Amino acid sequence: MNRIFIVLLIFANLSSFAQPKVNVDKQLKLSAQQYKGMLKEFQDTKYFPQSVNKDGSYKKKTSEWWCTGFFSGSLWNLYDYTKDQELKSGAIKWTEALEKEQYNKGTHDLGFMLYCSYGNGYRLTKNEAYKPILLQGAESLSTRFDPKVGVIKSWENFKEFKYPVIIDNMMNLEFLFWASKVSGNNKYRDLSIVHADNTLKNHFRPDNSSYHVIAYDSVGNVLAKKTAQGAADNSAWARGQAWGLYGYTVMYRETKQKRYLDQAVKIANFYINHPNMPKDKVPYWDFNAPDIPNEERDASAAAISASALLELSKYVKKDLGKKYNSFAEDVLVSLSSPEYFAASGNNNFILKHSTGHKPAKSEIDTPIIYADYYYIEALLRYQALNKTKAK
Ligand code: GLY
Repeated sequence: MNRIFIVLLIFANLSSFAQPKVNVDKQLKLSAQQYKGMLKEFQDTKYFPQSVNKDGSYKKKTSEWWCTGFFSGSLWNLYDYTKDQELKSGAIKWTEALEKEQYNKGTHDLGFMLYCSYGNGYRLTKNEAYKPILLQGAESLSTRFDPKVGVIKSWENFKEFKYPVIIDNMMNLEFLFWASKVSGNNKYRDLSIVHADNTLKNHFRPDNSSYHVIAYDSVGNVLAKKTAQGAADNSAWARGQAWGLYGYTVMYRETKQKRYLDQAVKIANFYINHPNMPKDKVPYWDFNAPDIPNEERDASAAAISASALLELSKYVKKDLGKKYNSFAEDVLVSLSSPEYFAASGNNNFILKHSTGHKPAKSEIDTPIIYADYYYIEALLRYQALNKTKAK
């Protein structure tokens, strides 16, 4: 072998290594087709797409349901990529169908509902009419924070407990940081930091997995550590781990406090190194589900954690960043394969195989609207990080 040939060989190997393994352009264009189909199926904004019932019909929800911001959120992100006006009109229509939720003080999920919809809409269009709606929403959400307890209340009650907080609640803090920046009122940011610190203290186990539900008393003492959607109180419910990972990554982005970065890294390491993580890196719905490997997967947990890992990869040392990026890439390869990705059919949802609430026998192994949202977000983040487009 002569020297030139060896140099060419090394170069070819290096460039194939640098090539993104996911064809983002193709996946987003196919996703846009699916969601244009969804827009045709859903004309009346009284009902939002949620998932698919066992009989193949749509499971639909009214605006106060926690997932109703994801449809327009995905439409906004797909519009941002494609510049397709049909997607933009759909995004506007399904965002504005949520207007009354700005006053909803009965849920902690206003971050999901309003920041994915109005928040993305404001980011992309700078429509000033969206700003007061978002700020009112943040104000409504902040009423669920009792300073004596030090956390935002998730539900009105859970079993015998009156102040339950779920790990998922970390996902609403990004919205509150935005509200502080835009309004100049630090209250939203400050209460988010208190919430995140108490969650850090009380929600995590020594192995860095998290409980789903922590029940507090009226002055912030922990009464119980439970699950609602996981296999057991002491199990690691997959989507809960993903919400925590995403939440602490955002906390680090917004505050640059090392304790949040450390926590995000601990969760990431628990998640990516778990012995029950399947080869395709799409987790079972609970890492400790009793019948693994005969348990359903949760593609939504895979999509959420891939999106979070891609962001986290920018904040850690190079080698660890590469590891997170490469894990997220493998997840996106799996989710973009026909096993999980639907280029047609699938009731116009993009991903198959998510699990919503197995203990309640609800939404098991089905498409679910939030899986699509975080898959699209992860694809966009992946493309931004891996500039070269796949052919
Ligand atoms: N926040 C509820 C869930 O993740 O299912």
